[in-house]
Amino acid sequence: MQRTKIATLLDSETPYEQVLIKGWVRTKRDSKDFSFIEINDGSSLANMQVIATNQLPNYADIKRAITGSALSVTGKMVTSPGKGQKWEIQAEHIDIVSLAPETFPLQKKRHTDEFLRTIAHLRPRTNKYGAVFRIRSELAYAIHRFFKEKSFRYIHTPIITSSDCEGAGELFRISTLDFNNLPKKADKIDNTQDFFGRETYLTVSGQLSAEMFALALGDVYTFGPTFRAENSNTSRHVAEFWMIEPEMAFCDLHANMAFAEEMVKYLAGHIMQECETDLNLFARFVDKSLMPTLENIVSSDYLQLPYHEAIDILVTSGQSFEFKVAYGKDLQSEHERYLTEIHFKKPVFIYDYPKSIKPFYMRLNDDNETVAAMDLLMPRVGEIIGGSQREERLAVLQARMQEVGLNQEEYWWYLDSRRFGSVPHSGFGMGFERFLMMLTGVSNIRDVIPFPRSPASIDF
Ligand code: 4AD
Ligand code: MG
Repeated sequence: MQRTKIATLLDSETPYEQVLIKGWVRTKRDSKDFSFIEINDGSSLANMQVIATNQLPNYADIKRAITGSALSVTGKMVTSPGKGQKWEIQAEHIDIVSLAPETFPLQKKRHTDEFLRTIAHLRPRTNKYGAVFRIRSELAYAIHRFFKEKSFRYIHTPIITSSDCEGAGELFRISTLDFNNLPKKADKIDNTQDFFGRETYLTVSGQLSAEMFALALGDVYTFGPTFRAENSNTSRHVAEFWMIEPEMAFCDLHANMAFAEEMVKYLAGHIMQECETDLNLFARFVDKSLMPTLENIVSSDYLQLPYHEAIDILVTSGQSFEFKVAYGKDLQSEHERYLTEIHFKKPVFIYDYPKSIKPFYMRLNDDNETVAAMDLLMPRVGEIIGGSQREERLAVLQARMQEVGLNQEEYWWYLDSRRFGSVPHSGFGMGFERFLMMLTGVSNIRDVIPFPRSPASIDF
């Protein structure tokens, strides 16, 4: 007989005559002649209740199958007379796949997120983390579906790179050189002897490659892992995270913002529809205001605010911020939250940032002072999207590269795209984990990624 997923059984309107389920014991209650066993197979938040009676030949062994043990159960699915579940299974046969000892760390009690981070290999077996990772999976699928519906092409941009797209110097070096015996030339490390014959890194963004493909295929996106050696141990930064990066030819900054808004609403709406049960767990136990927040995200018109106006609002807000607000400085998390949670009470795009705090590729505005950049700020999580219209004018781009000290020879291929058939184009990057934080109300980014990587932390 084929195994049926518990999610499928629980959704069923009619009982199955015979079923086979396989999963792990969440809880077991024994009385003299029978046991109630709650089995979870990861397919849904809900467990399947199994009734095992002392008529089963291995009943004595079944009684030893405590929390964490793995069972294979065949039996009859019947309407449950008990509260809390529609169906239950009257076991006719139970195979003990493996018995867990009492030392299994996930006994039936609440554990802190901090503790669960120390057992990241086991935490997906809890209700909360099972829900996180089911939603994560559904979101990845929804992203591809959204872009497919919009006729975008999916581009696999490289992970190994020789350029620092963002110019922030947060690069992880990769190398095959012998670190205990580095080849030297004129007292410096001789990178020509390294695998690629030069310094190479893990990518911080697929954007520069995506741009090349937008100028060929029109509308493209890349969705993959990105890496930042950012030494900030915050609740919103990890060293390895996933980014969704659309890039659109013949698209200006305002169309870029409109598209980002449409994408965010589509994805949030999709998850609200497809992951209702899992989302309810977060609304009950993690963030009581989650549902109204999500409703607001899918239904409100996002505000679009020039950077200098955002600074004015913050300066005159009368709030005492830890970090000083000033024109020409980046917004800190506390400023982002003030704007989205207190002042406007909805998602806000900030655009036209001073060029001094943004990367070289952003399009220079006519004021010669700001660039066509945009960030989307969300209540509680702050920045989830960073994007821009790209500088399509060769001479302006070259001047800007000179200004920030980039070697134009190394970017010859990037500059070529502005030499041959250059067009206005735009795109953005959305942090996949930041978006998941927003969807679930989970406040630490380490808790929405299977095995988080952050400074001095790489167990698992
Ligand atoms: O704003 P960022 O740095 O933009 C870029 O990398 C552009 N090249 C994207 C583009 O235009 N194609 O990063 C984009 C988003 C941020 O808004 C944030 O959501 C997320 O990536 N992000 C991080 N998420 C987790 N941990 C980190 N260390 C992150 N750094 C950025
Ligand atoms: Mg950014």
